Amino acid sequence: MKIEDKPWGGRFSESTDREVENFTASVHYDRRLYRYDIEGSVAHARMLAKQGIISQQEARAIRSGLGKILADIEAGNFAFQAGDEDIHMAVEKALIARIGEAGGKLHTGRSRNDQIALDIRLYLRAEISRVVGLLKSLKAGFIELAKKEMGAVMPGYTHMQKAQPVLLSHYLLAFREMFDRDEARMLDCLKRVNVMPLGAAALAGTGLPIDRDYVARLLKFPAVTENSIDTVSDRDFVAEFIFAASLIMMHMSRFCEDLVLWSSGEFGYVEIADAFTTGSSIMPQKKNPDVAELIRGKTGRVYGNLVALLTILKGLPMTYNRDLQEDKEPLFDTVDTVAACLGILAAMVGRLTFNRNRMEAEAGGGFATATDVAEYLVMKGVPFREAHGIVGRLVAFCIQNGKELTGLTLKEFRNFDKGFEKDLFLSLTARQSVNARKSVGGTAEETVRKRIAEIERW
Ligand code: ARG
Repeated sequence: MKIEDKPWGGRFSESTDREVENFTASVHYDRRLYRYDIEGSVAHARMLAKQGIISQQEARAIRSGLGKILADIEAGNFAFQAGDEDIHMAVEKALIARIGEAGGKLHTGRSRNDQIALDIRLYLRAEISRVVGLLKSLKAGFIELAKKEMGAVMPGYTHMQKAQPVLLSHYLLAFREMFDRDEARMLDCLKRVNVMPLGAAALAGTGLPIDRDYVARLLKFPAVTENSIDTVSDRDFVAEFIFAASLIMMHMSRFCEDLVLWSSGEFGYVEIADAFTTGSSIMPQKKNPDVAELIRGKTGRVYGNLVALLTILKGLPMTYNRDLQEDKEPLFDTVDTVAACLGILAAMVGRLTFNRNRMEAEAGGGFATATDVAEYLVMKGVPFREAHGIVGRLVAFCIQNGKELTGLTLKEFRNFDKGFEKDLFLSLTARQSVNARKSVGGTAEETVRKRIAEIERW
């Protein structure tokens, strides 16, 4: 592009090197912001006219010109070129080409530094709503599944070792709680995204009599930013969004990890529907949980985006620096990734079949009710530490003799402590163990049902 065709070409005598033009360009990815860029410009032009900085007629010409550019972009009839540098200049150049002099007045009292801050905030505001909507669907999927599988008992694990039996529905609701906090985090982040930056101009504000509150009202922002220097320099709200997205990814990833394990032949707890798995090009028997694995893998990618942005920001001198242009690819990639994962996981969750018999059979074994036996002794007045030791010796005895706790006679139990009586056999099975855990947040069926009812009341 010839230097005199660049909006900032005035002080230059030599054209930009072609490689530099390509290197500095962001239009190939920030064109994604076109709708918000145009929406912001329309509001800005209306404000300029209201303030008498440009005429109403000029503002109308700008609005209609921008409307046509919007339609052309949406119809795929707009030619972006690297020489346009970014979405702001591409749109402005097209506007001037179409409506002439009035187009040259649009950028009055504005800089690309506050313009890009506005575009990102408008974009992120919309994307946060979309992500929250997807989270809501996923949460609903977990509730549905928890209701459908009510009553199923499974082994609960710590250290990946069988620990204590839990209700499958309780396990599923754990994720519902995580996604609930993720939603709250997103909505909290939205408060800081939803502030109107335009008017900060390059870094110092403008001497022209602009009305920032009016622009905020037009664009439905509840507030304007309070410091022009801060406005053009920081992207903490982008980092916050990527962090919130990272936690969503992490939560999904942990569920996926369980699905990968549990769908293996060795566990056999769950079957993922064929439509959500893939095969092997060499091993005919294979049915692989690739969707779950990819969600797990993409989590790493989103973390990478977070670290990239934090690193971009950490050493920046105040105020705006071109480094900030590097915020967009990590942001866009995060939005695309988290949205895709939320959507596909919600669909897959609806297509899981649990092998309840297998889970329940596994839940009782492996001394999973040993704590219940210790707690039984506690109720008979034995100090917990002592009870722990007694049951530990019982377990060792069972291991030596190839027995399970459920296979011992009362007499054998009483060899270890005289406190054991017949009612002990009411707390030895996995189901009994589960249903004893009735306190708030516990895994008893009664408690879990109550929690579901509570959630559904909201
Ligand atoms: N494309 C830039 C960005 O993404 C905005 C332009 C600011 N450029 C400048 N030379 N002041 O941050």
